[in-house]
Amino acid sequence: MNCQGRVSPGTAAPAEERSCSWLNPWVFLISVLVIKTAFVTVCLVVLLHGGYGQYKTLLQNSTEWHCIPKISADKMEGWMCCPKRWRRFQNSCYFLSLDTMSWAGSEQNCTGMGSHLVVINSREEQEFLFNLAKEKVTNTYETKYYIGLTSYQNGQWQWVDQTPYEKIATFWKPGEPNLLFAERCAAIHVKGNRDSNTYSNWNNILCFTSCYRICEMAVKFV
Ligand SMILES: *[C@@H]1O[C@H](CO)[C@@H](O)[C@H](O)[C@H]1NC(C)=O
Ligand SMILES: *[C@@H]1O[C@H](CO)[C@@H](O)[C@H](O)[C@H]1NC(C)=O
Repeated sequence: MNCQGRVSPGTAAPAEERSCSWLNPWVFLISVLVIKTAFVTVCLVVLLHGGYGQYKTLLQNSTEWHCIPKISADKMEGWMCCPKRWRRFQNSCYFLSLDTMSWAGSEQNCTGMGSHLVVINSREEQEFLFNLAKEKVTNTYETKYYIGLTSYQNGQWQWVDQTPYEKIATFWKPGEPNLLFAERCAAIHVKGNRDSNTYSNWNNILCFTSCYRICEMAVKFV
């Protein structure tokens, strides 16, 4: 106010004098903003580098994570996280590739992302994966997705995570697996987006066949 009073026609330096009438509020506002930003930054640094070990682990990886609240018995117990663009089902996260590779290349790619080729443990998981794969396929005759099952070593089927192979929890097509001496890797076959063979679509194929893949990792609880 006292500055404004001095602004009058004929003053020696009107521009300089006038500027002082609106400078003070701006200086004040900018100072407040700077202090606030500094405060928030300090808080974030303390939070992220402090005791929150699990957040720290998640943040260290280059992966971006998508988290949802974990609620049981009406109480929020934390967060369930999957990498961005992976799909969650129960306690696992799933990645369906858009590119194709051999079985070994597929497993290596999954491992490189902190996961493994999918291990199917239940009817529910099989159904979820088949429906997810169907969403992605066009109406080509057969789209194949590698799963984490091989008979590389001794002719026995083996899951990549050492889950015991039990005939009852498998979803082979009728007549499969066959030609076991040569076809030692397993894939889910999807015959177009109207395929209804939800529980009978695995086939064994040559391991160098270039196929899509499904990777699986455990949900991260933080
Ligand atoms: C795995 O494949 C995806 C593409 O589907 C690629 O973005 C990623 O970098 C690959 N990761 C490794 C470790 O090979
Ligand atoms: C995230 O990083 C930690 C160590 O920084 C590592 O042990 C862990 O396997 C990584 N997780 C994934 C999914 O890459």
